[in-house]
Amino acid sequence: MAESHSNGVETRTDIVTLTQTILSQQQQHKESTGDLTILLSSLASACKWISNVVRKAELLKVLGMTGTTNVQAENVQKLDILSNEIMINMLRGSGKTAILVSEENEEAIFIDSKLGKYCVVFDPLDGSSNIDCGVSIGTIFGIYKVNKIGNPSLADLLRPGREMVAAGYCMYGSSTVLVLTTGKEVNGYTLDPNIGEFVLTHSNIKLGPKKIYSCNEGYANTFDPAVKGYIDSLKFPSPGFQGKFTPYAARYVGSMVADVHRTLLYGGVFLYPGGKLRLLYEGFPMSMLVEAAGGKASTGRQRILDLIPDDIHARSGIFLGTASEVDEIERRYRELDASNQA
Ligand code: AHG
Ligand code: MN
Ligand code: MN
Repeated sequence: MAESHSNGVETRTDIVTLTQTILSQQQQHKESTGDLTILLSSLASACKWISNVVRKAELLKVLGMTGTTNVQAENVQKLDILSNEIMINMLRGSGKTAILVSEENEEAIFIDSKLGKYCVVFDPLDGSSNIDCGVSIGTIFGIYKVNKIGNPSLADLLRPGREMVAAGYCMYGSSTVLVLTTGKEVNGYTLDPNIGEFVLTHSNIKLGPKKIYSCNEGYANTFDPAVKGYIDSLKFPSPGFQGKFTPYAARYVGSMVADVHRTLLYGGVFLYPGGKLRLLYEGFPMSMLVEAAGGKASTGRQRILDLIPDDIHARSGIFLGTASEVDEIERRYRELDASNQA
């Protein structure tokens, strides 16, 4: 029901919340134990908490560097650490996890009880370089089932991304939006800070039609000829119908969460060829979302979700977005490889 007010503002009262959705999905499956429901609800709580801290960061004096570097030799922000602690404690507290992998922890974290059914891999705060200037940042996560309950091991994590049972991110932008998939469809929920609920606002997301490319072109001198050629073709397209050409728009936030979120909603392609981004908690979850939204994610030569990481912090180059764009990048890589062999 939508209730109309004399000032012209409509208040929707027929909302669907994330809690309702995951509870009703659980009820539809007779064999469901409710464990994933509890886990997802703990994850959502962690995201609400991080959102709250991010929004108050300036006031709480938690901006800035800790003065240390993490396992990847990156400068660590105070908010990275706080977000990591929130994620670890909420996921451990859910009672449903056996192993956690975080960007901020060198080793995988084995949960004492060992009885949890799930492994969660996460980047507690993505887009660290954007924290201090208030630009969109986010949390990325992926969920695997352990192979054998009671006996979790690293083998549960070093497996193809396609085996993830759920993936998502929460973006702390002009609003806080949690985007989630369990493989079939992608749904987005916006946090209503007044009622503290994630409300379904983006149902069954499919990649939009816009012509946008997103990459840090400052590194162009390190790009393969296939990538350079592809980007040039977007900027200097051959004249089309009636001699008109429409070059692509360039958009690059520098937070993967924000760049992928825009790609999901508007369409286009996100490129990070250099191999900086981590498979487990950046590449895989985003690839699962993009594929479930009708797009593709590739290294240029191989589907990202088919890769098997050899380390929990393994990295890969990544191209994701509208299927036809990713196909074109792969075509150019095949051409490059063929000419190198000739
Ligand atoms: P993180 O802040 O978790 O280390 O990740 C930053 C990542 C990602 O969000 C973004 O796509 C990329 O780094 C930006 O890197 P550049 O500054 O090299 O463009
Ligand atoms: Mn990141
Ligand atoms: Mn991070």
